[in-house]
Amino acid sequence: MSRQIPFMKVPRGEVLFREGDAGQHAYAIESGLVQICVERSGKRVAVANLGKGEIFGEMAIISEGPRSATAVALEDCQLLRLEAQQFHHRMEAMDPVMRMVVDVMLSRLRRTLEQLDSLPENPRMPEEPPAELVEQALTQLRLEHELSDAIADEQFAVFYQPIVCLASGKLAGFEALVRWNHPRRGMISPDSFLPAAERSDLILEITKSVLGTISRDLPELRMRCLKNIENVKLVYASLNVTARDLADAQFAEKIEAHFVEHGMTTDALRLEVTESSLMANLEETDLMLSRLRRLGVGIAIDDFGTGYSSMNHLAQLPISTLKIDKSFVAAMNESDQSRKIVNAILRLAKELGIPVVAEGIETKWDARYLAREACEFGQGYFYGKPVPLEAALKLIANWRAKPVLPQLVHAKSA
Ligand code: CMP
Ligand code: MG
Repeated sequence: MSRQIPFMKVPRGEVLFREGDAGQHAYAIESGLVQICVERSGKRVAVANLGKGEIFGEMAIISEGPRSATAVALEDCQLLRLEAQQFHHRMEAMDPVMRMVVDVMLSRLRRTLEQLDSLPENPRMPEEPPAELVEQALTQLRLEHELSDAIADEQFAVFYQPIVCLASGKLAGFEALVRWNHPRRGMISPDSFLPAAERSDLILEITKSVLGTISRDLPELRMRCLKNIENVKLVYASLNVTARDLADAQFAEKIEAHFVEHGMTTDALRLEVTESSLMANLEETDLMLSRLRRLGVGIAIDDFGTGYSSMNHLAQLPISTLKIDKSFVAAMNESDQSRKIVNAILRLAKELGIPVVAEGIETKWDARYLAREACEFGQGYFYGKPVPLEAALKLIANWRAKPVLPQLVHAKSA
């Protein structure tokens, strides 16, 4: 693999770059001390000594101009190299006023540096420990590096969790869940890396990779269904997508291309979108969802009940399924309140003519309760955990459709 490792060891005395050079990277100091200096009236003027947690070399990257100063390692240093791209897409996404403020600040600093010709005795030494905000930003930037390596190395695995028709007990589909198969840390759950991926463009690459896997796996999964058709439906795959994916103008075409390549029709795909992602860019999202619906792609609102979507907008968007968040389902048995929320969501969905998937079904009681309340579909550990493709294929072959409702009627009348 020809990728460069972003961590660098720099020996004491090494010049990282000189004033006037073209800038390609910025750097974060993991350890050591770096001096920033300029050459004025034939004298070297030190303007700052930077230590752990500080960033330098960002000005040339952000303003796409020459280096404003020279950077020299005063001690042996460990640096994290930051790519221009990590700044550029954030600058593009930035509020225009803030962008203008940053530009003004940078050009002022450049002018001040140009006018420096008196030698300060001692440039400031780094005193205060790096602020929490800097550490958070560095954690994000390090994770982005690891994630782009993971994308290039294809370290993402897709696990399939069964979704079941509650009335018949037939297997109806699978939610495709991405896991990061980290070479050192093992399987990492999406909660630990998707938020970071979402804040950068990397989420698009991850979605593309999962989409590729799903479109490859679906023909095999469906073939297996044909051999057990009295117990399973022709399964669909449900993919989680973000506002950023939906904002990609080519998203529908990309899905179509993947599916055509593997001889699959796009009606085998369902997309899960959270309320907040749906509401992010309402107009564009609505257009994209309509295009996807025309391709036969189903659209499910994910984690319903936890977001802040406007009922009016929900009713207008081309939604085909509603997924009740597992927090309500998990608490149903003990909390009247949660049961009432579940019932209210079921009634609302019924009014809108949208079928419901209840997430987080863990017990037979949950399944029976929801089936009696005419909830169409269910998902959760009671029916099965997310499993790799091979196990999903076995699950299809061995699935036995057991309706939960007759026992309930029996139990009640007994
Ligand atoms: P850049 O212009 O890319 O290269 C030189 C870097 O020195 C610059 O980005 C900043 O990161 C840093 N720098 C310039 N002026 C100062 C200053 N007054 N204090 C601290 N760092 C500075
Ligand atoms: Mg989901």
